[in-house]
Amino acid sequence: MLTTEKQASVKIGQSEANSNTIEMLKNVKTIAVIGSGTMGNGICHVFAQCGFKVHMMDINQAAMDRALVTIGKNMDRQIAKNTLTEEAKQTALSNILTYTDMADAVKDADVVVEAATENIDLKVKIFQQLDQLAPERTILATNTSSISITRIGSYTKRPGKVIGMHFMNPVPVMRLVEIINGYATEVEVTNTIYLLSEYIGKVPCIVNDYPGFISNRILMPMINEAVLSLQEGVAGVEEIDTIMKLGMAHPMGPLQLADFIGLDTCYSIMNVLHMGFGNQKYAPATLLANMVQAGYYGVKSGEGFYKHTPGSKELVVSDRFKNKSWKI
Ligand SMILES: NC(=O)c1ccc[n+]([C@@H]2O[C@H](COP(=O)([O-])OP(=O)(O)OC[C@H]3O[C@@H](n4cnc5c(N)ncnc54)[C@H](O)[C@@H]3O)[C@@H](O)[C@H]2O)c1
Repeated sequence: MLTTEKQASVKIGQSEANSNTIEMLKNVKTIAVIGSGTMGNGICHVFAQCGFKVHMMDINQAAMDRALVTIGKNMDRQIAKNTLTEEAKQTALSNILTYTDMADAVKDADVVVEAATENIDLKVKIFQQLDQLAPERTILATNTSSISITRIGSYTKRPGKVIGMHFMNPVPVMRLVEIINGYATEVEVTNTIYLLSEYIGKVPCIVNDYPGFISNRILMPMINEAVLSLQEGVAGVEEIDTIMKLGMAHPMGPLQLADFIGLDTCYSIMNVLHMGFGNQKYAPATLLANMVQAGYYGVKSGEGFYKHTPGSKELVVSDRFKNKSWKI
């Protein structure tokens, strides 16, 4: 993978790959990505663009078909901005193979990045399967937003090779990778994931394994507080988002961001914080719970705090929140 030609064509963070990086990464050729939803498609995109063989795996073939279309469209945007050539796009797409069978997807993977639905029972099951099916040397990384890496690792026979590799949404655009060391994670594993993150042009930050890590321990309570403010009728959707955008210079308001992340994912993360710290201040807002239980997940379901029409970037507040005097 790390041929001279590839090294020359890949932009690596702030500098080109040095010999240590190349040495550390020379055994990383094939990366399996489990889950092809919002995050999985972006993770496949960046690895494939950087020359890795990517095995995209999902239990849902339709999700993978959609993911490939999304990757193609996102690469077209890069072409329009002159940051990618048509030829590089075709090469990147040819690096991605799709699988519905996990055994086939991971049997020769050097690194696995799991990006399936945020659910502890599901992730435990997936990691038990990965432990059985992937070679012993393979690093098993998870893109979980909040679930304990130590706990996930404890269900495998290789907790030292289990680590958090937390990409941000949208993956091709956002530069941060939050790396989370489980209690048992080996130093070499952390180093490999750190260098791999830099190699694909990201800025890695290493943190320890506490509920929500750093990013979501701070972000999610802010989103939850915005939902509570809406629930209590302190202000409407537009007012809350405008105040945070213009007043705090956030690129998008917390309710719009929640729609973008997925309200189901936000709810799961709040539950992890609530249970993990045992502190009432992390209890998810009732409105958030109701919206998730009713299937209003935000962008991925078409409606959350806003209505989302594919292809349109216009911000349209959901009818339910247009009457500013509503209460739950
Ligand atoms: N959405 C975000 O903004 C965001 C940001 C950072 C991290 N994350 C984390 O990334 C992970 C994925 O989140 P998402 O938003 O992409 O979810 P998503 O709901 O968009 O996609 C999840 C995908 O996982 C697939 N899946 C479910 N069970 C599976 C299995 N057993 N094997 C293989 N695939 C399976 C589903 O079919 C679906 O395509 C979660 O852990 C989430 O917390 C999400």
